[in-house]
Amino acid sequence: MIYYFSGTGNSKWIAEKIAEGTGDQLINVVDVHQGRVEIQPLKPGEKLGFVFPVHAWRAPDMVTELARRMKVPAGTYAYAVATCGEEAGLTLKLLNDIVPLTSTYTFIMPNNYIFGFDVDPTPVIQAKIMKAKDRLPEVIENINQGLKINDVAVGTMAGIKSNFTYHLFNRYGKNTKKFFVQDQCTSCGLCEEICPTNCIKLEKGKPVWTSGCIACSACINYCPVNAIQFGSATVNKGRYYFKEEW
Ligand SMILES: Cc1cc2nc3c(=O)[nH]c(=O)nc-3n(C[C@H](O)[C@H](O)[C@H](O)COP(=O)(O)O)c2cc1C
Ligand code: SF4
Ligand code: SF4
Repeated sequence: MIYYFSGTGNSKWIAEKIAEGTGDQLINVVDVHQGRVEIQPLKPGEKLGFVFPVHAWRAPDMVTELARRMKVPAGTYAYAVATCGEEAGLTLKLLNDIVPLTSTYTFIMPNNYIFGFDVDPTPVIQAKIMKAKDRLPEVIENINQGLKINDVAVGTMAGIKSNFTYHLFNRYGKNTKKFFVQDQCTSCGLCEEICPTNCIKLEKGKPVWTSGCIACSACINYCPVNAIQFGSATVNKGRYYFKEEW
């Protein structure tokens, strides 16, 4: 069983590749969060996987909440794969404190955090996806063989980033008041449809942000006409979502 969460498709792609290679079933954490799917009991000997993006040097809260709700039988082979633009800090160590993980990996993928930084230049996006593609078969083989591997890009000052900086992000980084929509919005409704926390509602055909945003960046990156901005932070920045060909 593989539980995945993804804002802009990087983690979904990795999760789908792992599911293909292991034959395991995929469950979207959003479906569990919104009550459409129950947490599934593990069959004897079944492996348990988590695939998700790093959000401010931790797992997204929805993933942490799911992990807290799970009852994992002792001896389960559990693994987690965190995708990140650069470094994961203590993300996997902190998840391991909730669900004991036999193996942990990071995959460096294109950055989607345009609230802070810009998107990666196209050659960097292409190189990151190519590298991930080349590495996936080995990781899948490791999982199939039940190996114990920790291959994680922790980065610098991990303790400070995964604690102090994470708490700052939690407090100030999910402020939906900064979202606004520009005139080119076509009222297509995609942002409302894809928001994992259902915090966007179309009013008179235009998105309005309510509470509950987790800053996953899906709405702003997927808008087909780049009509969404987050204060002045995202003006003149690129937009990113996963495609195999860039
Ligand atoms: C709110 C937020 C916080 C992020 N924090 C980090 C981080 O701490 N370290 C990092 O390397 N990348 C960070 N990123 C980048 C994402 O982890 C990375 O682009 C990831 O692959 C996106 O996966 P997804 O497409 O499945 O959502 C952050 C992105 C977002 C939206
Ligand atoms: S995705 Fe973009 S164009 Fe479509 S409704 Fe939302 S803001 Fe408007
Ligand atoms: S409103 Fe927040 S949670 Fe919803 S899609 Fe946009 S960034 Fe993600």
